[in-house]
Amino acid sequence: MKITIIHGQSHKGSTYHITEQIKNKLSNSSTAVYEFFMPADMPNYCIGCFQCIMKGENFCPHQEDVQKIVKVLEASDIIIVDSPTYCMEMTGQLKAFFDHLAYMWLSHRPNKAMFKKVGITVSTAAGAGAKRVSKSISNQLFWLGIPKCYRLHFNVHASSWSEVSPKIKSKIEAQTDKITHKAMKKPAVGTKLRFMFAMMRLSQKANTWNKIDKNHWEENCWLGKERPWKS
Ligand SMILES: Cc1cc2nc3c(=O)[nH]c(=O)nc-3n(C[C@H](O)[C@H](O)[C@H](O)COP(=O)(O)O)c2cc1C
Repeated sequence: MKITIIHGQSHKGSTYHITEQIKNKLSNSSTAVYEFFMPADMPNYCIGCFQCIMKGENFCPHQEDVQKIVKVLEASDIIIVDSPTYCMEMTGQLKAFFDHLAYMWLSHRPNKAMFKKVGITVSTAAGAGAKRVSKSISNQLFWLGIPKCYRLHFNVHASSWSEVSPKIKSKIEAQTDKITHKAMKKPAVGTKLRFMFAMMRLSQKANTWNKIDKNHWEENCWLGKERPWKS
């Protein structure tokens, strides 16, 4: 099994430690784990040049950083994305990473490999916002075509892992246990993803504005009967 972890932060606080727990519970001696830290592994913001969307992902000025991570994501079975809650949102550096993947959204050129993955999102907050952040990250994964995402969110009432109370830590242990068992299962493609794919397919059928998006759908035979989760 291969696991990729995208850390929405560089430091090793509560969020990181919860992700570590999940990683250790999912792993055995044959598991390969790849970890990326934001912003170190994606130091640049999207500059809004539209090159990835209109010409191709290799025209992004930051394509080397982006494609290095995309290749690893493609090969993974489970993708974990974490972020502390900052001002009720994911960290800016994590959002900057996701902005670089816009060309892979269902509305553009979805990556077939993504439709077989399981996502896990993790967020912590001192008191409020972690649920919203975990959901927001899972929304990003949905638009990349990931069919199943488990969301973990904790109000840790602390600014560092060492300050988190034993009671909250034992709740975290129980939740990470539960989620890791579920995440091992093969993901089913739900109604929401099928519906959104169908909507995007109609949009691509009518597409006269972006040739490379349309070619992508045609080459994959998605305008016909093929579906990315089937092959
Ligand atoms: C810039 C900044 C903004 C924050 N915004 C929120 C917030 O909106 N809601 C909240 O409950 N905690 C907020 N916090 C607290 C952290 O989310 C919380 O301590 C979290 O557990 C930190 O995770 P970490 O240990 O992985 O860094 C904020 C902290 C920082 C540094």
